[in-house]
Amino acid sequence: AKVAVMFGGSSAEREVSLRSGKAVLASLLDAGVNAFAFDPQQEDLSSLDADKVFIVLHGRGGEDGVMQGALEQRGLPYTGSGVLGSALAMDKIRCKWLFQAQGLPTAAFAVARPGTEDYAAMLAELGGKVMVKPANEGSSIGMSVAVTAEELAQAIATAHQYDEEVLVERWIEGREFTIAILNGAVLPIVEMRTPRSFYDYEAKYQANSTEYLCPAPLTAELTQAIQKTALAAFQAVGASGWGRVDLMLDQQGQFYLLEVNTVPGMTEKSLVPMAAKAAGYSFQQLVLAILTQAES
Ligand code: DAL
Ligand code: MG
Repeated sequence: AKVAVMFGGSSAEREVSLRSGKAVLASLLDAGVNAFAFDPQQEDLSSLDADKVFIVLHGRGGEDGVMQGALEQRGLPYTGSGVLGSALAMDKIRCKWLFQAQGLPTAAFAVARPGTEDYAAMLAELGGKVMVKPANEGSSIGMSVAVTAEELAQAIATAHQYDEEVLVERWIEGREFTIAILNGAVLPIVEMRTPRSFYDYEAKYQANSTEYLCPAPLTAELTQAIQKTALAAFQAVGASGWGRVDLMLDQQGQFYLLEVNTVPGMTEKSLVPMAAKAAGYSFQQLVLAILTQAES
């Protein structure tokens, strides 16, 4: 079977996708799979000649259900979540509404549109320190922390450059974790530690100062509770196949879901490969396990 590895794309996470996709393609070729690169930013989908698609597109247009829908129309099987799960997981606001509806823990938040808000009141209501995010972005693009009304106004304006809707979330002081899910199994938890104010784009892809601990040093009880919640969050948004759920643990021992990623980073240094390694999968075994999801 001919496998198109889709990466690149036109979202703000294009650069990350190029890195992820190259790693996946190289690994498939090494395994003897008849795989080739397809960049939807440069080639028209109508010229795609493949039997199945391995999606390594991050962000809008590739991770949000748009490409998934186009592939459905062509009858082409693809890896990862379907249209609904992809679309819901991309939208951090609707993800949080679903978490709340399912009784899953997530930090208090407001939805902002620039210029129409009482920033001081919003800030006070959310505890005085907030994380501001475009609703539909990845890799921390467009995100900033605010502790004054002026900073909040600025942070919302920044996030608004990327999105109509902006999520203003109560700041959780504590530790950050991520939980990978692969073919129904929950992999060992990864903890990310950064000296920066949060795990931002630089901490994710550029800094050497980020520390990763896997399996995360947590009690067996907390590990189990977090893994169970992560799987419930993944299912709540209708995600399937593989993905990664991000979460914070505060200093009182309470944890809060951040979001679900349906096409998480797949560079050799990314978090899902790290978790897979702790579970005994090489990068190539991980890639082949994801490929099995593309079935007609
Ligand atoms: N959005 C990036 C690629 C991630 O979740 O890993
Ligand atoms: Mg994300």
